[in-house]
Amino acid sequence: MTAKVIDGKAFAATVREKVAAHVTRLKEEHGITPGLAVVLVGEDPASQVYVRSKGKQTVEVGMESLEFKRDTDITEAELLALIDQLNDDPKVHGILVQLPLPAHLDSDLVINAIDPAKDVDGFHISNVGLLGTGQKSMVPCTPLGCLMMLRDHHGSLSGLNAVVVGRSNIVGKPMAQLLLGDSCTVTIAHSRTKDLPAVVRQADIVVAAVGRPEMVIGDWIKPGATVVDVGINRIEKPEGGTRLVGDADYASCAQVAGAITPVPGGVGPMTIACLLANTITACCRANNLPEPEGLTV
Ligand code: GUN
Repeated sequence: MTAKVIDGKAFAATVREKVAAHVTRLKEEHGITPGLAVVLVGEDPASQVYVRSKGKQTVEVGMESLEFKRDTDITEAELLALIDQLNDDPKVHGILVQLPLPAHLDSDLVINAIDPAKDVDGFHISNVGLLGTGQKSMVPCTPLGCLMMLRDHHGSLSGLNAVVVGRSNIVGKPMAQLLLGDSCTVTIAHSRTKDLPAVVRQADIVVAAVGRPEMVIGDWIKPGATVVDVGINRIEKPEGGTRLVGDADYASCAQVAGAITPVPGGVGPMTIACLLANTITACCRANNLPEPEGLTV
């Protein structure tokens, strides 16, 4: 079997088109321009790339992008004061603090200072609790993007066995909650799981989010299963130079799986598209307007 390739790049473009249509409606019918504030502390090159990309795409869908770049030596009190200011600003519907923060800043404290209604990352403890109890929340962008692609591919996920490999707060845990919410039977596996290959072989859906290049191999995949690869790892090529690979070994998994997301061009593009979708959701909720369909769970 050769797996169907789930095209995250094309899917993300359709999400952005829907977002752009909602932005137009919000502007024309309600005089509201959705605004997304992104806070970047320090000079981390990868974070700078992400933030630039977020800002560009925010503007492309017609929203207002507000960027707040601060030096690495900002104090916690100064950063919390900035967040307070954004919480109180009616032009700001979504706030994202780019992670990781420098070591002297307490990320949990900073994230939990964001107004949960503006927490477009879905990392605030209130949103984590709401998601875990099946209530309306802001949903973390990467797992939301994975769920959208899975629903699109499978229709109903009810009763399917899902194995999430990875237990991070950003991906693994919220992914498991979303799959449970769609009535999957969910296992969270990780690097210490006993006989990980046997656990993964039970899965109709495998979400690889463990942060190890090409760890999940075709031999672990049940024939016909769907593989969603969240990993983005840069590795050295034998002939020199580097290339991007996921947490699944694409070549071997694609021979066994029924469907697979590639790296690059799978989950990656969906993350920013879902950030924009979350900003629309937050903006509609803040203004007591009906939430757009298909942009959140
Ligand atoms: N750093 C890497 N991924 C993310 C993300 O999804 N959100 C934030 N805020 N920071 C990140």
